[in-house]
Amino acid sequence: MKIGILGTGEVGRSLAAGFKKHGHEVKLGHRDPKASYADAAKFGEVVLLCTPWAGTENAIKLTDPKNLAGEVVIDVTNPLKFEESAAPQLALGFTDSGGEQVQRWLPKSRVVKAFNVVGNTLMVDPKLPGGPPDMFIAGNDAAAKQTVTQICKEFGWPVVDIGGIEGSRLLEPLAMLWVVVGFRLNRWEQAWKLLHK
Ligand SMILES: NC(=O)c1ccc[n+]([C@@H]2O[C@H](COP(=O)([O-])OP(=O)(O)OC[C@H]3O[C@@H](n4cnc5c(N)ncnc54)[C@H](OP(=O)(O)O)[C@@H]3O)[C@@H](O)[C@H]2O)c1
Repeated sequence: MKIGILGTGEVGRSLAAGFKKHGHEVKLGHRDPKASYADAAKFGEVVLLCTPWAGTENAIKLTDPKNLAGEVVIDVTNPLKFEESAAPQLALGFTDSGGEQVQRWLPKSRVVKAFNVVGNTLMVDPKLPGGPPDMFIAGNDAAAKQTVTQICKEFGWPVVDIGGIEGSRLLEPLAMLWVVVGFRLNRWEQAWKLLHK
C-alpha cells in the first residue's frame, strides 16, 4: 500500500520505518517544499497525521484538504497544550476532541483515530511480556476502520473499535493517562490491554 505521512517527528519517523518494514511504500511530508505535506498526501492511499496539536491545523492547510478528499486519514495526534513548568494538559475535551476537530477540518476525508494511546517505540510490532496490547480506534467510516484494523493487525495489534470519531473524547484522555503513568513510574514502554472472559 502507498502510505503518506504528515510530520517527520518521532512518531512520523517510527511509523514510516514500520510501514517500510512491513513492505509498504512511504512518503513523508513536512514544511519543506522538496518533501511537502501535499506531496505525501497525494502519494498516500492512506495518510497518517503525525503533527503536534499546535501545528496540526497549519499542517492540514499546507496539505490542502482537497489532496485528502476521500482518503483514509489516521489521526495519531493528541490535542496537548504545553505551559511552562506544568505537565501537559488536553486543549479540549468532554464535548469535543481533537479527532472530531480533524474530521471537521477534513470533511471529505475518512478520519480514524488510532495509535494515539501508545508511545512511538511500541507503535509497530510491540513485544511486551504480557502479550500483545490492544489498539483502540474510533471513526465514522466502517470501510476506513477496516483498512486501519488491517494495518494494526499487520503491526501486531488486536483492535478494539469503540465507534464513531467522537470516541476520540475517550482516547485522548486515555493518552493523557498513559503520559501520567509514564511520569509517575518513569516508564515509557507500556500499552493498554482490555482483559475480558
Ligand atoms: N511521541 C509519541 O510517542 C506520541 C505517541 C502518540 C501520539 N503522539 C502524538 O503524535 C503527534 C506527533 O508527535 P511527535 O512527537 O512526532 O511530534 P513532533 O516531533 O513535534 O512533530 C514534528 C513534525 O511536526 C511538524 N510541525 C511542527 N509544527 C508545525 C506547524 N506549526 N505547522 C506545520 N507542521 C508543523 C514538523 O514540521 P517540520 O519538519 O517542517 O519542522 C515536524 O515534521 C503529536 O500530536 C503527539 O501528541 C505522540
